[in-house]
Amino acid sequence: MLFGKKKSVAGLDVGSSSVKVVELDGKINNLSLVSLGFENLPDDTVVDGQIMELNAVSEVIQNVCSDHKINANQVVTGVSGHSVIIKNIVLPAMSRDELEESIDWHAEEHIPYDLSDVSLDYHITAEDDEATSVMIAACKKERLDNIKQAIQLSGKAPVVIDVDTFALQNCYEVNYQPDPSQVVTLLNIGASTMNVNIVQGTQSLFTRDITVGGSQFTDILQKSLGYSFEQAEAVKRGVAEAMEDVEEKSIEPLMNNVTDMVAMEIQKTFDFYRATAEDDDLAVDKILISGGGSKLVGLSEDLASKLEVPVEVLDPFRQIKVDTRKFDPDYLSEIMPEMAVAVGLAIRGVEAK
Ligand SMILES: Nc1ncnc2c1ncn2[C@@H]1O[C@H](COP(=O)(O)OP(=O)(O)OP(=O)(O)O)[C@@H](O)[C@H]1O
Ligand SMILES: [Mg+2]
Repeated sequence: MLFGKKKSVAGLDVGSSSVKVVELDGKINNLSLVSLGFENLPDDTVVDGQIMELNAVSEVIQNVCSDHKINANQVVTGVSGHSVIIKNIVLPAMSRDELEESIDWHAEEHIPYDLSDVSLDYHITAEDDEATSVMIAACKKERLDNIKQAIQLSGKAPVVIDVDTFALQNCYEVNYQPDPSQVVTLLNIGASTMNVNIVQGTQSLFTRDITVGGSQFTDILQKSLGYSFEQAEAVKRGVAEAMEDVEEKSIEPLMNNVTDMVAMEIQKTFDFYRATAEDDDLAVDKILISGGGSKLVGLSEDLASKLEVPVEVLDPFRQIKVDTRKFDPDYLSEIMPEMAVAVGLAIRGVEAK
């Protein structure tokens, strides 16, 4: 650009428990962190990804952007959960024009919603003389309108709406530059949704969003022990003052129940994956875990032993330059798990500039 700097585009992740925003600068292989913000949402303002209180959520977006000096007026955001359908389909070999013309018809049988109610996107993942492999992504239009409205109300412009699980993959690819043969499961445990994305190198082999997350641990403490939401959250996070009057014996079995359910859902996903994988060699080498829900003490170790796969924490800043005079390393490492999707969205933002 001849005049001035190019406009920057931030990544904005509106989760069901908090809003995260990340602004990056530079080229894909040489990124640096410009700004970062994280603020909790009032309870029940976003339920299962659906924004119920537009004004309250847009106010939090506005605050988090102004408090953390986000320069960008444009943002990339993401969607996840039930309203998003992702499928890998194999079609006969055909030209781009033929594919464009027939994609609605092919997609119809894979999408459980009326096509007029969804926004459909697709991308060719492989092709040869006989077949065209296509990944289709569809999202309910009402969900897209809902997130767009909240962002516009905050004064920002949503320029790209990505899918959380692909943002997570983008974050992984830039930070880990994966070996093409390595099969890794990206597991992001949020408050209400777990995104599972099994990738080989930079190719997504299988994705599933599961509506289970960190809030299930809080819920069970509230329901079984009569705690308020705040008390249950504090006990779950092991906050010292909250633990003073708590009998560990009463909590452990409750937490274990939820951990079992989380592990079972991931195991089910692995089983689905194995049933569709063409090649037996594509066993999962490790799980890279992220999301606030992954911070539960002992969860990674429990999942590793139940699923018999090593679990490592995903570092969303592994290849991103961070000025430690500007960003407190302790704070950054504390909130690192929650920032994975937002970093992936910000990377899309850099690409979209
Ligand atoms: N130290 C901790 N120990 C246990 N759980 C934690 C800890 N810190 C955060 N959490 C949990 O992490 C969850 C929030 O994670 P995250 O910010 O990734 O979710 P979200 O993006 O808001 O939600 P979603 O993606 O499901 O819409 C909450 O359930 C919260 O209680
Ligand atoms: Mg999230």
